[in-house]
Amino acid sequence: MRPMLDYSETLERRHILADGRSVVIRSMRPEDEAAARLFFRRVYPQSFRTRFLTLLRAFAPVDSTVLVCEARVDGEPRLVGEARYSPIPGSPSCSFGIVVTDAWHRTGAATLLMLALLAHARARGCEAMEGIVLRENRGMLPFLRALGFAVQLRPDDATLLRVVKRLDHYDLPSPPG
Ligand SMILES: CC(C)(COP(=O)(O)OP(=O)(O)OC[C@H]1O[C@@H](n2cnc3c(N)ncnc32)[C@H](O)[C@@H]1OP(=O)(O)O)[C@@H](O)C(=O)NCCC(=O)NCCS
Repeated sequence: MRPMLDYSETLERRHILADGRSVVIRSMRPEDEAAARLFFRRVYPQSFRTRFLTLLRAFAPVDSTVLVCEARVDGEPRLVGEARYSPIPGSPSCSFGIVVTDAWHRTGAATLLMLALLAHARARGCEAMEGIVLRENRGMLPFLRALGFAVQLRPDDATLLRVVKRLDHYDLPSPPG
């Protein structure tokens, strides 16, 4: 992995979505905890959330970088998306995850989050970003392909796909807005 660079300029940026609404992409702050809990309550049903958050607490790498997408809903700030990555120990790659609340799908918010995440990881020296996606996840695959991720079969599990994007060879597209 290359040495740490100054990637602060990739953080805290306001964008105007195609529908005219404005969002801010920024890093998660400690004071976001209550808003983040509400966010996860909105995006995951109870049973999944319990399992997911338990797993997250048990396995979340301490060096995860978490970015959020903040919008204004009824005049109040609200987290509508979250994306994170963590370096994979012993590898030049990092793994990622992203989720956006249903009401904000197909607005471009997820693309802005992913572009910021990719830029952040590259500035930090990660050579590739990868993830595991359920094969049946119909929205995620076209979304990731549009961002230049390659989709690979997993020989060990036909229900899963590995997605990967090299960060050292290509220029990242500029975020819209
Ligand atoms: C995957 C996800 C992040 C995409 O969010 P999104 O808000 O739709 O993303 P964007 O608005 O930035 O979409 C960008 C492009 O991705 C593609 N896309 C996104 N969802 C799609 C869908 N359901 N079907 C086809 N294409 C889709 C389109 O090309 C879209 O551009 P367009 O709207 O101009 O056609 C969102 O659906 C999500 O949070 N899903 C649940 C979480 C999840 O499955 N995470 C996977 C584990 S990492």
